[in-house]
Amino acid sequence: MRSLLFVPADGGKKLDKAMASGADAIIVDLEDSIAPERKSEARTLAAAFLKGAVGLTARPRILVRVNGLQTGLADADLDAVVPAGPDAILLPKAEGGAAVTHADAKIAAREAIAGLTDGHIKIFALATETAQALFLAGTYRGASTRLVGLTWGAEDLSAELGAEANRDAEGRFLDPYRLARVLCLAGAAAAEVQAIDTVYVDFRNEAGLRRECEEARRDGFTAKIAIHPAQVAVINDVFTPKPEAIARAKAIIAAFAAAPGAGTVGIGGVMYDRPHLARAKQMLASVGA
Ligand code: COA
Ligand code: MG
Repeated sequence: MRSLLFVPADGGKKLDKAMASGADAIIVDLEDSIAPERKSEARTLAAAFLKGAVGLTARPRILVRVNGLQTGLADADLDAVVPAGPDAILLPKAEGGAAVTHADAKIAAREAIAGLTDGHIKIFALATETAQALFLAGTYRGASTRLVGLTWGAEDLSAELGAEANRDAEGRFLDPYRLARVLCLAGAAAAEVQAIDTVYVDFRNEAGLRRECEEARRDGFTAKIAIHPAQVAVINDVFTPKPEAIARAKAIIAAFAAAPGAGTVGIGGVMYDRPHLARAKQMLASVGA
């Protein structure tokens, strides 16, 4: 999964547009893009949408972002959407593995009542939205077999830190958010789940988006969240391994296969060792090769 497109559960045509956007997943939002007085309406809408959409044959994965466990709204969100069988729940303002374990229990109970297979609904967690969450980013490992990905956010965190800005004049994240980004990346690797980069809100700036996608891929993220359909093609492009990268991975695997027991090999004047072999295997697995 390379691209995940946020779409507010607010009733317009956006849900249909998101389904046709080319995104690998859509995230139906019940949280920050929905005003408090419209939560109930949004739940009904999200459930109706899911009922019509989950059975379609060719479709993106469908996630629902519920409200955080701290808000008192998450139970009603889950009551509404779990019976309709979304592919996953995105848990915002997660504070470590304990929050994921907590969400798992809430989902499991509702899955059982709805007659869904236990574990059908996966969990993605937004792992850096509170100050406390930063100190718990390393605790996701083993929290739940439902957990499949971690992502991070800078908006709620900057509010919590009392910051004036989260990006510099060139649009690059400032230090507190670069730390959050790395904690998400390391937390995901430690938990052996996908690391997904955060949103790029300047949705008319394609060059800025591409740069941020490339920096994310360079550092180990394998997907990015979009907020506008126009961002999907760029994200898909950057996170689809290029033929040269696939060929290089195959060459590394072949070179090690041809030299049983070797710790290092040379290809075209460059040394490759065991970590390169591990990365090459990971990359080919990600493209199903
Ligand atoms: N999903 C699906 N369709 C979307 C979309 C999205 N996230 N964002 C925009 N579109 C649609 C618009 O409805 C519009 O459709 P139309 O041509 O039929 O009118 C078209 O794409 C072009 O949109 P545009 O006019 O460029 O932007 P906008 O001003 O309508 O919307 C936002 C801008 C930011 C409000 C919108 O992109 C959005 O709602 N994004 C998601 C916000 C969100 O979920 N935030 C929570 C997570 S941070
Ligand atoms: Mg938020």
